[in-house]
Amino acid sequence: MNKKLDKKTLDALVQAAVAVKKNSYSPYSRFKVGAAVLAPDGQIYAGTNIENASYGLTVCAERNAMFRGVCEGQKQFVALAVCTDPVEGEAFGTPCGACRQVMAEFMKLDAPILLVAVTKKGQIKVLKKKLKDLLPLPFLKPGE
Ligand code: THU
Repeated sequence: MNKKLDKKTLDALVQAAVAVKKNSYSPYSRFKVGAAVLAPDGQIYAGTNIENASYGLTVCAERNAMFRGVCEGQKQFVALAVCTDPVEGEAFGTPCGACRQVMAEFMKLDAPILLVAVTKKGQIKVLKKKLKDLLPLPFLKPGE
């Protein structure tokens, strides 16, 4: 059954992304990211960015969140929230290109992507986009 994307559900997704950010393993960039995805059955999977001394092995928070869900048997996600530390000059961090491509593998193009920023005063700000806003002209599975 598809979980309705009501305010309470999306708020829980945002809170999961905010909460997991504290576990970010990012000693090299010192840039903490938390992400959470919502599966059609209402389950939420959260992930952080995980860095490595060999920098290129770093995996972003969004992919870790999606891959956690896939490891639990999920094949589709109906929404994603990503929370970053405040980005200088801009309120919201945005997902990298690699994560957008992985989102296109497991999410519909009209699925909501919630960009989340926590202000210095602890206020949570959310900017709602759709995957198709972030990834126009996507490369999809052949035949789709
Ligand atoms: N990062 C993410 O976790 N998600 C993104 O979409 C962009 C970048 C992480 C990777 C690295 O640990 C740090 O942010 C700085 O690039």
